[in-house]
Amino acid sequence: MSGYFEQKVAAVTGAASGLGLGISEELLKRGAEAVFMGDFNEEGLKRESDRLSILYPGKVFPILTDVTKLDQVQKLIFDAKNYAGHLDLLFNNAGMGLTLPTEKITFDIWKFIIDLNLMGVIHGTYTAIPVMREQGFGHIVNTGSIAGKVPVPYQAVYAATKSAVISMTECLQYELENDGLQFSVFCPGNVRTPIFAGVTPPADSISVEEAVEYIFDEIEKGSLMIIFPEAVRQADYLYREKRDDFDKLMKQLADERRENYRTKGTYC
Ligand SMILES: NC(=O)c1ccc[n+]([C@@H]2O[C@H](COP(=O)([O-])OP(=O)(O)OC[C@H]3O[C@@H](n4cnc5c(N)ncnc54)[C@H](O)[C@@H]3O)[C@@H](O)[C@H]2O)c1
Repeated sequence: MSGYFEQKVAAVTGAASGLGLGISEELLKRGAEAVFMGDFNEEGLKRESDRLSILYPGKVFPILTDVTKLDQVQKLIFDAKNYAGHLDLLFNNAGMGLTLPTEKITFDIWKFIIDLNLMGVIHGTYTAIPVMREQGFGHIVNTGSIAGKVPVPYQAVYAATKSAVISMTECLQYELENDGLQFSVFCPGNVRTPIFAGVTPPADSISVEEAVEYIFDEIEKGSLMIIFPEAVRQADYLYREKRDDFDKLMKQLADERRENYRTKGTYC
């Protein structure tokens, strides 16, 4: 560990559960000065921030935040910045998965997922950029997904939002690195979080702890693109370099999901 997170002021969205909670806790473990935890789940946010406050007194600041509402995201970010006069790290993480057959997708579902998974990240990113530009430093970490890197059947809506998050993050890195800003986007495979509520997490899923440790090590290195675990890096490689093999795998997956929907009413 290089001490990259020591004395840092950070804001995290989707901080009451899963990866956002794991990220908040790891920031505190690695010596952050203050962690502003944003989430719209009031009860979960209170429970988890109270728990972390006992372990790290004076360093945890829960802010009720719906990322689809610009003014609430602004409050989270400005509160964090005003705490000690600087905002070092922002994790735009709040989001939800969606795996559904096309005939069940409505335009309202498209709007809902775009508002949460894409506009939520845009609200955070474009609020933090002027703050970080003015101070001359800052690191914005966005949560993507492997579904935004490679096409996955039955995930068109989710994948569209995540690939937009990924390309936006990459573009901004090249545009703003001369202003002292650093961007990262992490693209996990399956991580065992409540995102799998109601279904059995896939056999290849990893724990939040494993995911967060990998993410933090890569953030410290200044990696722009963070893809994990290995099986998912292989899928990305196949997609780019061995397209026929990738096509076969995804057609198999589409067949499996089609059959699961027909027989069980769910994708797995
Ligand atoms: N778990 C996985 O397998 C996986 C894989 C790839 C990417 N991701 C991404 O990781 C991120 C976190 O997911 P997770 O698996 O930890 O899920 P999770 O359900 O455990 O956590 C998501 C958190 O976001 C919060 N949230 C939802 N809508 C919100 C809103 N409008 N405003 C503020 N907070 C809101 C929820 O209350 C919850 O606390 C998501 O962006 C997800 O797409 C997860």
